[in-house]
Amino acid sequence: MALQIFRTKHVTDHNHTDSDQSLKRCLSAWDLTFLGIGAIIGTGIFVLTGIAAATQSGPAVILSFVIAGLACAFAALSYAELSAAVGGCGSAYGYSYAAFGELLAFVIGWDLLLEYGISVAAVANGWSGYFNNALTAMGIPLPDILTKAPKLGGIINLPASVIILMLMALLIIGVKQSAKANNAMVFVKLITISIFIGIAVFNVHPENWHPFMPFGWFQTLPDGKTTGVLAGASLVFFAYVGFDAVSTAAEEAQNPQRDLPFGIVASLTFCTLIYIIVSALLTGVVPYTDLNVSSPVAHALTLIGFNSASALISTGVIAGLTTVMLVLYYGLTRIIFAMSRDGLLSPFFSHVNRKTHTPVRVIVICGLIMAFVAGLMPLGDLAELVNIGTLAAFVLVCLGVIVLRITKPDMHRPFLSPFSPLFPVLGMLSCSALMAFLPAITWLRFVIWLVLGLIVYFSYSIRHSKLAQES
Ligand code: ALA
Repeated sequence: MALQIFRTKHVTDHNHTDSDQSLKRCLSAWDLTFLGIGAIIGTGIFVLTGIAAATQSGPAVILSFVIAGLACAFAALSYAELSAAVGGCGSAYGYSYAAFGELLAFVIGWDLLLEYGISVAAVANGWSGYFNNALTAMGIPLPDILTKAPKLGGIINLPASVIILMLMALLIIGVKQSAKANNAMVFVKLITISIFIGIAVFNVHPENWHPFMPFGWFQTLPDGKTTGVLAGASLVFFAYVGFDAVSTAAEEAQNPQRDLPFGIVASLTFCTLIYIIVSALLTGVVPYTDLNVSSPVAHALTLIGFNSASALISTGVIAGLTTVMLVLYYGLTRIIFAMSRDGLLSPFFSHVNRKTHTPVRVIVICGLIMAFVAGLMPLGDLAELVNIGTLAAFVLVCLGVIVLRITKPDMHRPFLSPFSPLFPVLGMLSCSALMAFLPAITWLRFVIWLVLGLIVYFSYSIRHSKLAQES
């Protein structure tokens, strides 16, 4: 669906359309909901639930999901208000432009590059875990040195790098019929989850839920890592990343004012329910201590003797995670496009290849960088980096709602975040708190990324932006 964009020679900035460059408004409210589910359900639930349960939350990972889901719900309502009122592409980047002006818009756009780019690398790691699990089941396991990042004792996570390069090729060619492909893969993902729920529900041993909170609420360990239910919430927050991708499809929605808020809220609500059910069952069927593996959902079924179901689940997850990577990879190129069109990044990045009608340069540069990162950094580190970037974006989106209500009170707002400014404030507070529970090293990486961004802004963007040209 949204990938159809690459078949057209098009990009608009956040508040500009012209007839030659406008997209086909072909997405219904349900298409958008499916797009959201396609981007949301992925490595978070299929892999990180296991890591978080085993090392941070114990069976209380259910609570971690509820807490992270609440923070997302507040942010989603703010997204819904801004997507309906401001519209345009570029997601939170476009809204920040409207609410705060160029500098903060750049910062948030830069931040979104981190969110989307690193998410693809993180999901590729999850994909690799299930892929290796499937290879092992077929009796042709890859050696550890080729499936693990150096920090985990390997040399490179080769499958993770290779899948990104394959998606890169796919996006360059352009994906015809992508709406159908996306919907089909979302369907496969939902069937996979249903199979797991159907089996797990009859194999729960309530004693596995005791102790419920073995690591407490929160503590920092001597090595700087964090643990406890709140640290777990900061990690499994990754499972919710992607609902904001719905807002990047604003220009293809049939009725964006009505359908975007629906798509955002419906996909998030649905996924939250699924996460609570799956995490409760996963920690109910096997002891949480068994879940620190790269394919915990399949592993749990193997442990309780359902080998064929486990293989089936691995196949479904492999298909399902591919959609997540595609939508996020697409979102990444879309934001770079928007920033490049606004002059904040070089026009080099908004070049569309004549033959393929796809933004080949951006796709290739992003693909190579992401493949490199995916091969060398472990999943946990990547996910935490994504989360800090995403949470920072959410804080600014919530703030954007408050600022715009004051600075542009008469703006047409087809959807209103309820109880404003209470809900946006709660969104800011809860997302900031989740940021605070992330380890110091993640903060350091995030700050380095932002400083890099500011260097780019003050050395290039400030002079080349459209606003600078106009003035
Ligand atoms: N929410 C997406 C996932 O869990 C990024 O894979």
